[in-house]
Formats: sequence, C-alpha cells, structure tokens
Amino acid sequence: MNQPGNNWQHWTLRREADGLAWLELDKADSTTNALSAAVMEELGSVLDVLDAEPPAALVIASAKPAGFIAGADIEEFSQLASAADARVLVARGWTLFERLADVDYPTLALIRGHCLGGGLELALACRYRIVVDEPGTKLALPEVMLGIVPGWGGMKRLPDRIGPALALDLMLTGKSVDAKKAKRIGLADDCVPPRVMENAARMRVRSGSANSPLPWMARLMNGPLRSKVADKARKQVAGRARREHYPAPYAIIDMWSRFEGNALAVPAGDPASLETIFASPTTRNLLRVYHLQERLKGFGKGVDFAPRHVHVIGAGVMGGDIAAVCAQRGLTVTLQDQTVERIAPAIARAAKLFERRFKGDRRQVRFALDRMIPDPQGHGAVRADVIIEAIFENLEAKRALFSDLERKARPDAILASNTSSLRLEDIAGCLTDPGRLIGIHFFNPVAMMPLVEVVAGEHSDALALQRAAAFARRIDKLPLPVKSAPGFLVNAVLGPYMLEALRCVEEGIAPEAVDAALVEFGMPMGPVELVDTVGLDIAVAAGKALAGDGAAPPQKLLALVSAGKLGKKTGEGYYRWSDGKPKRGKAGTAPAGLADRILAPLLAATRRCVEEGVVDDADLADAGVIFGTGFAPWSGGPMNYQQTRGNLPVGTDSTVVDRSAPAIQQDAT
Ligand code: NAI
Repeated sequence: MNQPGNNWQHWTLRREADGLAWLELDKADSTTNALSAAVMEELGSVLDVLDAEPPAALVIASAKPAGFIAGADIEEFSQLASAADARVLVARGWTLFERLADVDYPTLALIRGHCLGGGLELALACRYRIVVDEPGTKLALPEVMLGIVPGWGGMKRLPDRIGPALALDLMLTGKSVDAKKAKRIGLADDCVPPRVMENAARMRVRSGSANSPLPWMARLMNGPLRSKVADKARKQVAGRARREHYPAPYAIIDMWSRFEGNALAVPAGDPASLETIFASPTTRNLLRVYHLQERLKGFGKGVDFAPRHVHVIGAGVMGGDIAAVCAQRGLTVTLQDQTVERIAPAIARAAKLFERRFKGDRRQVRFALDRMIPDPQGHGAVRADVIIEAIFENLEAKRALFSDLERKARPDAILASNTSSLRLEDIAGCLTDPGRLIGIHFFNPVAMMPLVEVVAGEHSDALALQRAAAFARRIDKLPLPVKSAPGFLVNAVLGPYMLEALRCVEEGIAPEAVDAALVEFGMPMGPVELVDTVGLDIAVAAGKALAGDGAAPPQKLLALVSAGKLGKKTGEGYYRWSDGKPKRGKAGTAPAGLADRILAPLLAATRRCVEEGVVDDADLADAGVIFGTGFAPWSGGPMNYQQTRGNLPVGTDSTVVDRSAPAIQQDAT
C-alpha cells in the first residue's frame, strides 16, 4: 500500500518500522515497466517525499512478474518532433538519475528479470545492485541498436562500475549479461536466488559497505589512458560499421572520452551531438526496424494455441536443427527419420547447441536432450500439436508422407512442410482436406536465423496459419506471413542478388572485391561468401528456379559444381575454406557502383514480391528481408531504402530485373 497522502499511479512507497523504504514500480495499464514521461515525473515526486522525510535506506524493485524495467518508453521516443525535444527527453532522465545518485541515504536496485536501457541506468544511479539468479535476468544498455545513446547516465556510470573496456563492449554492441556475469564483472554487488532476495537487499543496503573498487588497470583506462582506449574502440567500431551509416556507436565513444558520459554537454555542431544523432536517417530507420520486429511478434498474439509437442520428420540439416531449437525452447520433440542412424547426428548437433545456449549448465542440457526423442517409427505423429515435414525435396515422397500423416494426426494438429521450392498446393493435393497443409519455412542455420516464413497455400486454413505464427513465437522466432510463390519472399530476393554477384565474378571482378563492396554497404556477409556457405549445388537449383530472366547460370558456377567444389561444405567453392573461414586474397579495386549494381536485382525482386502480394505490404517486405537476410538495418529495409533514395520509386514495373538501366550499366564497366 502506498504511503498515505500520495496519489501515484505507477510507484508504491512503503516504509518499514526500522526506516527502510521499499519503492516498487508497477506501470499502470502495462505488462512491462517502461520509463515513460509520467513514470519519471512520479519518480521525481517520490524523491521529493523522501527528501522531506529521508528513509534509513531505499530499495527500488519491480512489482511486475515480467521483469525489472525494460527501458525508456520507445513510443515516446518515436514521436519526438525535433532535436530540441530529444534534448529535453535526455535531460529529464539525466537530471533525475543524477538526483537519485546524490541522495544521502543508501539506495539499492533489486533486479529480477530484464533490466534494460533506462532501467539499468536507474539501477546504476543506486549505490548497490542485487541481481536475482534466474534465466530471465539480463542487464544491458541496448540503445545503440536503436541508433541512440545511453544518455541517462549509463555512459558515465557503467565505465566507472565495470571499467571502460567491458563497458564500451556492452554499450557498443547492446549485448546483455546474465545475473552470474553481472556479479562476476562487478556490475552487481550480489547474485542471489529468488527466495532470499528481499533479505539480501535488506542486509546489503544497510551494510554501509563500499562498492568494490575497479582494478588498477581499469582505473588507468578510465583516467589517463582514456583517449587511447577511445582510439582503439573507434578502430574496432570502424571495422564493423561506417560512421555515416551508424553515428551512435561513435558518439558513445566520444561522449564517454571527451564529455564524461554527458550527452547534454556535447555542443550541437559536434558530430557526436544529440542533434547529429537525431538528424541521422539511421536513428529513424533503426526505430523502424524495432517497430517492424514488434509487428512480426504480433502475428502470434491473440491465438489460443499453446503447443507442447512437436513431431519433426526428416532429421537432416533442417529437420534436425528445427527439432533442437524446439527442444531448447522447452517443447517435447519426437524426431523421425528412416533409421535411428540418421537421427543420431542430429542429436549430437543438438547436444552442442544446448551446451552453447545453456552455457554448460549440465541440468538444462540434460533436460533439453531428454525432451528430444528419436522416433524412427513415427509414433509421435499421433499425439503432436505441430507436425513439421523436412524430408528431402521430392514431391512424391512428400505427398505419400502427408496422406499417411493426415490419417494419423490429431484433427487439430498443424500439418506443415518446410519445403523451399515445391508448390504447397501440389503437396496438399494428396490430402482429403487440403486446407490443413501450410508451410513453415525455416532458414539455415535454424538456431541463428530469427525469421520463419509462414506460408499460405491457395487453400490453407486461416486458423492453422495463425496457430503456426503462435508456434513460431513459442520457439522465439519471428513469423512472416507469405503467400505460396516461388522462393516465397526471402529466397526470391536473395536468388537474383547472388546471381548478379556471380555474374560480376564471371566478368573478372575478384570475389573479394564483390564481397567487400556489399559488406561495406552493411550486409552481414558478402554474396559470394554467402553462395559458398549455402552450397553451390543449391545455388544452381535456386538460380534455375528464380533467375526470372531465363539467362543461363554463370559458367564458373557450373564448372565448380561439376568439379565437386560445392563451397564451404566441401572445403572449396569460389573461395578455399579452412576452419570454417574463407581464405581471401587481395580485393583489388572494385568498379564504382558495384554494390548498387548487385543490390539492384534484390531491390527489384522485393518490389515485385510486394506488387504480387507475396507479402501484404512494403513494411512486411522490409521486415522479412532484414530478418531473413540481415539486409543492412541502417537502411530501414530494401523498400524503405529505395523510397528514400528516390531513384527506384515503388510501383515501377519490376517483373524483370532491369539490367540495362543506365546507372547500372555504367557501374558495371
Ligand atoms: P537433408 O537431405 O539434409 O535431410 C533430409 C532427411 O529426410 C534425410 O535425413 C532423410 O533420411 C530423411 N527422409 C527422407 N525421406 C524420408 C521419409 N519418407 N521419412 C522420414 N525421413 C525421410 O535435407 P534438408 O537440407 O534438411 O532439407 C529438408 C527440407 O527442408 C527440404 O524440403 C528443403 O527444401 C527444405 N529446406 C532446406 C534448407 C537448407 O538450407 N538445406 C533451407 C530451408 C528449407
């Protein structure tokens, strides 16, 4: 119950007899705690009350089961109209948390569950932090991923707490640490199990103990060596992202090294200023990517479907990994293949994945392996909520399998194919009720790729599609609804792009130059390396299906395939591979506009997918291409990119890739 006399909507202040005060955040009308303007204003008024009657100590916690605090209110940030508004927003948090840091009584943040962005900045403004050792506890300053900076004191306090090397690593990548690591690196003072958390908080906040000091090397790096550390960090960032594409990480380094972590102290004309960041299209585009991601997450919502058992048929590259990801996420999986011997390698791969994901926690690894049941006879199909077929790409085999499955499966079970290139309608033709078949198209490597395409065939049942999206969310994937069409969305745009890259190589441009140009644009991997990774045999098949312009595949590609050089998996393709990495020679000089030339077919194919209704709208196309291929997030996606550049207007005829467009022709020579 709130201290009498206070009329707060979001915060509850409770005082114990010995003078210890508990302040809990439970943001009204929301399942998660976000630091909206209203929440921050109320916190100010809580501090007023505490100033008037100071407690012996203060513990700040969350009343929400979802976690501590998820960060600032992104909606409010998205609606900022000017750089001046951005400055006001930053000043609000900076000033309030400075005030919290300066109070005379000891303060402690009791962190259970997510503690992100502004939430961690609030926690850093407290004298102590206790983290609760649970799988959901994670601490991060992910602002950089939205193209902004941790301006509410994070850039000032995190380096002081854990040293600048670690702090910059966290702030420049946005990655999170779990409870144990938070304690290990000195971010948290204690890491405790949930049952003792309140007592631990009581004891620590009343202890009067000093925070553990930084090791001397970290103190040097935070002091006299600061500019050297900043130079090194700048070099590292430059290897990953160009300043004109991503100004925020550079600004973070500058704000920390030149302005004591105070974003407000940077003058407007400085390249690290809030004004520069606010004016950058990247900031808008990264917010756009965030909203696109939320939209994809929404597809699984509001459907009454809680799958517990998945039956996967085909324990090869895809089926084995789909089964592993499902088991990792807590589902029971029966994995069927023709023999136990074919299932065994998938289980061995899964064990490695679980080791990595559960960071060596033997019990979790054991439980996940126990959930993955080899099932050569296919008994699991009778009980499963979701059945996923991932056998080899053969229409007759798939039809035979599904007509058998239709008889065995529960009437409400999802029947899904992972096919990449067969028409869903052709497979569904074997069913008494063709509406039951849908596609759930995963990407390789399944554990790494965030997207799945949920494919609607001509007759697919709408409820089954919604349930498939809910299933995708259950295993933490982003579902993209697509219509059944060659290559769906992602392969339809990747195919022509990879082909154009190979044509460039055919013309004598070094693969290294091709890849460097696209990596510089912001792709996670160059297209030639991607072809080698996917496999040259698959590229030939996909090229035939997707080329669109009827042109023959590049000679070099065919020659490599007939020599058995299929790329990474055989140790040689366009590159020689060793230890899972391509050996690169010198890139040489690339012709001007090389990236534009290779991107043009991808952009055109994306437009075509929108026009032909493969996805419902341009935003979904952008979401799919970003999360399915890693397409440069700073651009906001291929549709947004061409719209903002204005030279490839949406709505132009794009059914055939226009390889004779003057700009492209000129670039190619
Ligand atoms: P794969 O060749 O690695 O594995 C296929 C497995 O299915 C083999 O272990 C085989 O023994 C088993 N199998 C074949 N017929 C069977 C039957 N009647 N009953 C039980 N098991 C049977 O194939 P991969 O690459 O995993 O592809 C599987 C499916 O996933 C294909 O439809 C493919 O188009 C699709 N796909 C493949 C991707 C890739 O990158 N490899 C990406 C996305 C989809």
